[in-house]
Amino acid sequence: MKIAIVTGAYKGLGFEWCNQLAHLGYKVVLTARDLEKANAAAHELNEQELVVYPKELNVANETEIEQLVSWCSEYFGKVDLIVNNAGINPKDFPDKEKMAKAFRLEAFDPAVMDEVIHINSYAPLLMVKHFRHLLVKSQQPIVINISSWLGSVSQLGFGGHYGYVGSKNLLNVLNKSMALELKPEGIITVNVNPGWVQTDMGGSKGQFTVQQAVKQLIDNVLTKVTINDSGKFLNYDGTEHPW
Ligand SMILES: NC(=O)c1ccc[n+]([C@@H]2O[C@H](COP(=O)([O-])OP(=O)(O)OC[C@H]3O[C@@H](n4cnc5c(N)ncnc54)[C@H](OP(=O)(O)O)[C@@H]3O)[C@@H](O)[C@H]2O)c1
Repeated sequence: MKIAIVTGAYKGLGFEWCNQLAHLGYKVVLTARDLEKANAAAHELNEQELVVYPKELNVANETEIEQLVSWCSEYFGKVDLIVNNAGINPKDFPDKEKMAKAFRLEAFDPAVMDEVIHINSYAPLLMVKHFRHLLVKSQQPIVINISSWLGSVSQLGFGGHYGYVGSKNLLNVLNKSMALELKPEGIITVNVNPGWVQTDMGGSKGQFTVQQAVKQLIDNVLTKVTINDSGKFLNYDGTEHPW
């Protein structure tokens, strides 16, 4: 049976990844930085007889990543899929002064930018750094990083928004580099643009529901990618997204 780990998964796109992967027969590790929220979300899926394990994971905390690796190593001995979904958008910071520090030039603050970059750009690499030895035990190890069209330089049509735009763009290039390093080990690692999705982050006007967005990514990316796609930035329809 295939094992999947999803980060930031008690709600939004992450929760729906857990739901659809579990329906496909994966054993899913549903992680969230608040264990109670992970427990409640996993319980909802367990009630449908789906195999979902709740685990605490703040992706910015390398010790917690290592603890999860130990648990997965003991219970499963391999990992087939990591969905690096956890992400933040400074526009959602309740503290609007802090929000401005990663949003508008006059308030630009490297310390707040670092916080966003750590979660959105570094954490996906930290996950792979620590799970690498379990990924290579899979017949077809896949890593899917949830990026955004806002990380595309050529498509960017508005200003400001530095934290989100910068961190997703950095994630795109870091993933390409990581993919080239990991290619000899057979690990497929791609970045995806899910489109504009109706979640807390995306708001209610998004073009897709979470169900549609995840189904498209499963049908057009997860089930189609090969090692030749590793490092690509893919759109929800499976085509390559402009960088
Ligand atoms: N919705 C869209 O239109 C859209 C478009 C493009 C890309 N994306 C990307 O899709 C991903 C999922 O977002 P969403 O739309 O589903 O938004 P969401 O409902 O706000 O979910 C974001 C999730 O990330 C978690 N998270 C944030 N920081 C974390 C950390 N340090 N450790 C662990 N979990 C953390 C959040 O948990 P807490 O509540 O504990 O913070 C939450 O569960 C993000 O990477 C986002 O950038 C979304």
